[in-house]
Amino acid sequence: MKQVYLDTFGCQMNVADTDRMELLLFHSGYRRTQEKEDADLILVNTCSIREKAEQKTFSLFGSLKPLKLANPDLILGLTGCLGQQDGKKLLQRMPYLDFVMGPDQVDGVAHAVDKVRSNGKSFVWTGFDQEKTYSIPEFSLPKAPGASTFVNIIKGCDKFCSFCVVPYTRGREKSREPDELYREIRHLVEYGAKEIILLGQNVNSYGKRGLKNPIPFHELLYGVAQIPGVERLRFTTSHPNDFTRETIRAYQDIDILMNHLHLPVQSGNNEVLKAMRRDHTIEEYRELLFELKSKVPDICISTDIIVGFPGETGEAFEDTLRIMEEIGYSSSFIFSYSPRPGTPANELNDSIAEEIKKRRLQEAIALQSRLTSEIGQHYIGNNTEVLIEGRSSKPGYTFKGRNPQYWGANVQAGEKTLKAGDTVKVRVQSVSGHSLSGKATL
Ligand code: 5AD
Ligand code: SF4
Repeated sequence: MKQVYLDTFGCQMNVADTDRMELLLFHSGYRRTQEKEDADLILVNTCSIREKAEQKTFSLFGSLKPLKLANPDLILGLTGCLGQQDGKKLLQRMPYLDFVMGPDQVDGVAHAVDKVRSNGKSFVWTGFDQEKTYSIPEFSLPKAPGASTFVNIIKGCDKFCSFCVVPYTRGREKSREPDELYREIRHLVEYGAKEIILLGQNVNSYGKRGLKNPIPFHELLYGVAQIPGVERLRFTTSHPNDFTRETIRAYQDIDILMNHLHLPVQSGNNEVLKAMRRDHTIEEYRELLFELKSKVPDICISTDIIVGFPGETGEAFEDTLRIMEEIGYSSSFIFSYSPRPGTPANELNDSIAEEIKKRRLQEAIALQSRLTSEIGQHYIGNNTEVLIEGRSSKPGYTFKGRNPQYWGANVQAGEKTLKAGDTVKVRVQSVSGHSLSGKATL
């Protein structure tokens, strides 16, 4: 039996792509190993969203090189966004690589491996498929999904935010047919999934183009909610411009649609938003979320923020801190701006000094810690429903999971016998960061 070692950098989309490659390779006789040294095939699924992600990839390959030199039969492949972005350059920089693939070649991974095995020549395989829609073959669906499972509903992005490589590395938006999605979700539920998280770079654009039976995103939510056995439903990520009033309505109508929304704001300042080509104002963003919060009072909102974008003044940064306070995010992913080759923002002068970026990053992170802790305090002494996803690594706790608002939770089972997939009421005793801890109640 052959063994494959898989490593993943970057977003949930990449995690999902790696899982699919694992399944496709399983059919070609590969079993996943956690030990690089035992592998006949090593695949690194890469990310190029920020420079740091690229650096991590190069340092990982630095450590893989001796393995390849010691064992010429080992196949070494680079897949994902860095592959699409840098293609041939990667083979020049790392001649010991056997192949480079982009995100759109995931389904061909077994073919790529066979090709290397048969002729031993290294190659680059990138670009985008010509299909209007996006389809995932049924045989590559997992037979042992987690209690909470991602389902890709759309790939690519047409938004072209000025700082972002995704439209170039993942190509144009393409949605999967609703029937294929319903079939996949029924399959996942049959094999034990309880929570479905609809996944895409911009899920709210779902169904806009190419579908034989087009439906808008909110209708997909209603459709999935009707599938027996789906106990929880979520989606990520959204763009404010495509987030509709009908989707707010869906939060009110659909009980199993969990009360959490990840809605990236990126900046709280209109000038910066304009330079980022986000195509909305901060007033529009605020109004949308105030409406959502007024209709779904216990919803938690999380976001993505970039600090130190070219031209971000001290006041503009203060605007970002202000919107964070106003919305009261339960958590944020906060990044320092990283210029990316080929993006329009790369043409702007990366004018903010590194130490200022760092200071702003620390300040925004400190504010988020305070907001998270303030919101978390409200849970203490109260019950919250947790879907158990696995074992907890926190001493004294047996299980971990998430509550409806997407807070992590560590659970003491007490007298209860619990397993992944169970939903339990937990009496919250303490909060640390974005994580609650407490005891399962009877
Ligand atoms: N620099 C810093 N952060 C970035 N992101 C995307 N591109 C960049 C960049 N060039 C962040 C955005 C996005 C998240 C996935 O990554 O906040 O929402
Ligand atoms: Fe990138 Fe903007 Fe698309 Fe998100 S919406 S993937 S930030 S281009």
